[in-house]
Amino acid sequence: ARDLQAMRSAGLVNAQALAAAVSAVRPGVTTADVNAAAVEVLRQHGAGMAFLGYPGPYPYPAATCISVNDELVHGIPGPRRLQAGDIVSIDCGSVVDGFVGDSAITVGVGEIAEEAQRLLEVTCAALFAGIERMRVGNRTGDVSAAIQSVVERAGFNVVREYTGHGVGRAMHEDPQVPNYGQAGTGPTLKIGMVIAIEPMINAGRADVRSLDDGWTVVTSDGGLSAHFEHTVAVTEDGPRILTLE
Ligand code: MF3
Ligand code: CO
Repeated sequence: ARDLQAMRSAGLVNAQALAAAVSAVRPGVTTADVNAAAVEVLRQHGAGMAFLGYPGPYPYPAATCISVNDELVHGIPGPRRLQAGDIVSIDCGSVVDGFVGDSAITVGVGEIAEEAQRLLEVTCAALFAGIERMRVGNRTGDVSAAIQSVVERAGFNVVREYTGHGVGRAMHEDPQVPNYGQAGTGPTLKIGMVIAIEPMINAGRADVRSLDDGWTVVTSDGGLSAHFEHTVAVTEDGPRILTLE
């Protein structure tokens, strides 16, 4: 219970940081500006940055990942200016009292195309369909299958290379929770487990590749991609989303 309280604190700060970042999104601002809005909130609360320095091709250089249009995840904030019609994914990780909060959201910049709007809605709906399955006695495959079903019924595609994950004192813990799979398979959910559920969904083909910067992941076909994520605890009263404001 005490650990969960710390995770809620981390989750709340993370939600506030994401909200500030989303408020900064408008045509003409850079992705570095959007990142700075999130960093400011983490600083104000004395929270740590779970992503900064994270091991990879080289230590991850920022507090957030900001991924625009065909960029799926791990876009590095920088001088790129957002334009009306873009969709932008903002992924943030915080640390409070040694516990990690991890969440992401994708929003439109100004007016966006109808198909882009539908991609955002379906990806968010898939996240919540997965969250709904986060109940004691269910299997991780139940979460995965629920997400996949929402996505594929809408005619979109689940990225295979990246998955949801356990989260706690470390950002990435067991179990991995893919966004596709078979109901009734995988580890059984127990009270107190906390999992970051994070569908990464492509409008076009599912396959992805990395850019030369070593971090940014883009769709192979150049189609749009969306990402929504919450850190969710299994409780006796059902799923508890720790990263809501
Ligand atoms: N939400 C992402 C994840 O769960 C963030 C990791 S980005 C990194 O994997 F920079 F920290 F690697
Ligand atoms: Co995550």
